[in-house]
Amino acid sequence: MMAVTGRNLVFALMGALVAASSALGHAQSAAPVVAAPQPSGAPGDPDEPFVEATCADCHPMVQITARHMKAEEWAAIVDRMIGLGAQVTSQEDRDRIIAWLAAHQGPQ
Ligand code: HEC
Repeated sequence: MMAVTGRNLVFALMGALVAASSALGHAQSAAPVVAAPQPSGAPGDPDEPFVEATCADCHPMVQITARHMKAEEWAAIVDRMIGLGAQVTSQEDRDRIIAWLAAHQGPQ
């Protein structure tokens, strides 16, 4: 039989406090992990899978990666592709694709 002495009660209370504060600390450290989902593509280049999804529908990506052009020329191509039916639905997406192309497929 275990008698609950004053000393045991103090230890029990301390244990409860430690458990409560570590639970709080855990909740605080877990929150940012939930708030920041990892992009599914290559780390540091989330636009590449986006460009692939938009531009490799009708022809392979190599049709694009074989070309090296200035941003203005890529802009003209992207606008032509939109005319052919590429699913670029906002000015923001158009700019994002042109920026990726200019950065990765610029003149050599
Ligand atoms: C709806 C189908 C379709 C989509 C989506 C598409 N293209 Fe094209 N693409 C074509 C066709 C058809 C051609 C060949 C005719 C032409 O060049 O106008 C072509 C040709 C090209 C060429 C070669 C052009 C040349 O002058 O030789 C490039 C570069 C290109 N596409 C880039 C892209 C980029 C970048 C995207 C994404 C924004 C894209 N394409 C999305 C249909 C598509």
